[in-house]
Amino acid sequence: MYFVLEKGFKMRTHTSFLVDLLKGSILSTVAEVGVFKGDNAFGLLESLPIGLLIGVDPYRRYPAFDDNLSNKTGVVARADLKKVKKQMLQRMKPFGDRFALSENFSEDGAAMFSDELFDFVFIDGNHYYDFVCADIKAWLPKVKQGGILAGHDFVNKVNCGVIRATTELLPDCAVNLKAKVWWWEKPFVEDDSFEEVKEKEVKDVVDQFK
Ligand SMILES: C[S@@+](CC[C@H](N)C(=O)[O-])C[C@H]1O[C@@H](n2cnc3c(N)ncnc32)[C@H](O)[C@@H]1O
Repeated sequence: MYFVLEKGFKMRTHTSFLVDLLKGSILSTVAEVGVFKGDNAFGLLESLPIGLLIGVDPYRRYPAFDDNLSNKTGVVARADLKKVKKQMLQRMKPFGDRFALSENFSEDGAAMFSDELFDFVFIDGNHYYDFVCADIKAWLPKVKQGGILAGHDFVNKVNCGVIRATTELLPDCAVNLKAKVWWWEKPFVEDDSFEEVKEKEVKDVVDQFK
């Protein structure tokens, strides 16, 4: 795990950090786990050339979420999730086909997609340790080689298992404490057969010069 330090005392939003992180990347397909009012999804779609952002959120109360970090801080606890979903969809309308909602729990949402499909996946759903571990395990295979898996709330708070989950599962991830974001770039798998084919192609061309 390595910490990317920024000068100054000011915290920054995860969205502004992600925009900087992803600037210049190819972003055909992106997923966000935990959409809520769509603040982050809106900011990313507004600022980056994302082809399609799929938001995965059940917009449903369930026991393991009712007493989690977000609820304790009050924002999600007080919300009428059906109403929030409706307002979020209305807000996303200007983006047309660039936004789609998958109204599912994270793992079920991930299971709908084939592996190595996403350029970027952002995890910001249930922050309990077990859930963050499950999110990482479910979404990591869905990220393309060279793509990025990231998440929010890398913080030391009661009921927040993000630090423990990422330390255990992705010990070589990067962290920006001001934005409370962790991220991990999926390495390319070396493919010798590709090299061999390319080498042969070059040889064939060179042979023509003889
Ligand atoms: C902190 S809010 C997301 C905020 C949003 N990412 C942003 O930055 O604008 C958390 C959201 O996660 C959703 N959520 C809770 N449990 C989930 C799960 N198991 N899978 C997917 N989403 C979940 C909640 O319904 C809630 O809308």
